[in-house]
Amino acid sequence: MNQYSKRRSRLLETLPENAAVILFAGKAPMRSEDEAYEFSINRNFYYLTGLDKENMVLVMYRLDGTSGEYLFIPPYDEKMARWVGGRMLKEEAAAVSEIKKVEDVGDLDSFVASLLNRNRRNPDFTMFFDFWHYEFDQSLSLAQRYANKLKENYPALAFKDVYPALAKMRLVKDEQELESIRKAIHITNNGILKMMKSAKPGMNEMTLEGIFSFVLAQMLCHRTAFGTIAAGGKRATILHYHDNNRVINDNELFLCDLGATSDYYCADISRTFPINGHFSDRQKEIYQLVRNAQKIVEANAKPGVKLKDLNQMVIDYYKQELPKHGLNEAVSEYYFHSCGHHLGLDTHDIDGGLGAVLKEGNVITNEPGLYITAEGIGIRIEDDLLITADGCEVLSKEIIREAEDIERYMNGQ
Ligand code: GLY
Ligand code: MN
Ligand code: MN
Repeated sequence: MNQYSKRRSRLLETLPENAAVILFAGKAPMRSEDEAYEFSINRNFYYLTGLDKENMVLVMYRLDGTSGEYLFIPPYDEKMARWVGGRMLKEEAAAVSEIKKVEDVGDLDSFVASLLNRNRRNPDFTMFFDFWHYEFDQSLSLAQRYANKLKENYPALAFKDVYPALAKMRLVKDEQELESIRKAIHITNNGILKMMKSAKPGMNEMTLEGIFSFVLAQMLCHRTAFGTIAAGGKRATILHYHDNNRVINDNELFLCDLGATSDYYCADISRTFPINGHFSDRQKEIYQLVRNAQKIVEANAKPGVKLKDLNQMVIDYYKQELPKHGLNEAVSEYYFHSCGHHLGLDTHDIDGGLGAVLKEGNVITNEPGLYITAEGIGIRIEDDLLITADGCEVLSKEIIREAEDIERYMNGQ
């Protein structure tokens, strides 16, 4: 049994008797004219199948003590194969996912109709979809559209969201997932080292971003985890700066927040370094405060603690230290995000909520920062932590982060 098969069994166990789950792989939205945006697989579909192709649908059910699983995929098309490469054959999809019953996606409606007909007299029968929705007015997902279509034809049918059950599973990473995250971090490390070695005053932010992307391509990593943030000087005080198109002047700091992926698993790392290879005394002083805040999180992240508690420790530390460094104690003026989030198939993975209690197997980020607009200093240091039985492991510890180590490395010592 591979990991996808095991996860499907575990999910089915969490569902009530007489229920079905329908999960859509998704479809790339159109961008302009005849060009679509890059396709990005529905992560829950991927988590349960290992497949990352468009227009596939997973159906699982539990009925009267029996269960079943079916995959619906686009039929193999010779012409499409010549234009854009082959679609997956049924046997290929079956081999990756270990789902034995693979059908044409055109047969989905009649299959669902027969499932519903079998349950005509069952008032408890419930259909589960992934109804994750981020913004109030975002365009409808395939799941929402399909549920709306079913609701029109079967108005008494009950729907539920399968997202919470999957979220609970995805928050605790298994060995395969950790291996992918470690690989993504390792690739990210190589990209950051190359940026540090290439940095020179007068360089454009875009050039450093390009160096990172080039290293990823060299290491056969096809995608970044999110849009790279490459911010020089005072642009580093903008939390999610994305223009990446300005010159970084001598004596300025450069903040990069970026990540490679491996099998869709993300790294999310921030490093801040001096573009000329030497921190000024003031830059180093602020850098050390951020690094100390990070160490507090590292020392306290363990099962039973909440992200919210870790963030409060960072705020308390800053409140005590900032006035000693010519800053006022209103911490939110300089630090206005929280110290971390879950990480996995998405960069901001599964919203466990700041109040959720950490568990062994969670992967979180540790990313305190300080953003001093008046001085044009923005510093964030971000590492990725695995929560262990009694503490945490810094998965990204190989990526240099002490100020002296950065200077030594940048100056070839
Ligand atoms: N890269 C976005 C974040 O650190 O949360
Ligand atoms: Mn980040
Ligand atoms: Mn982050």
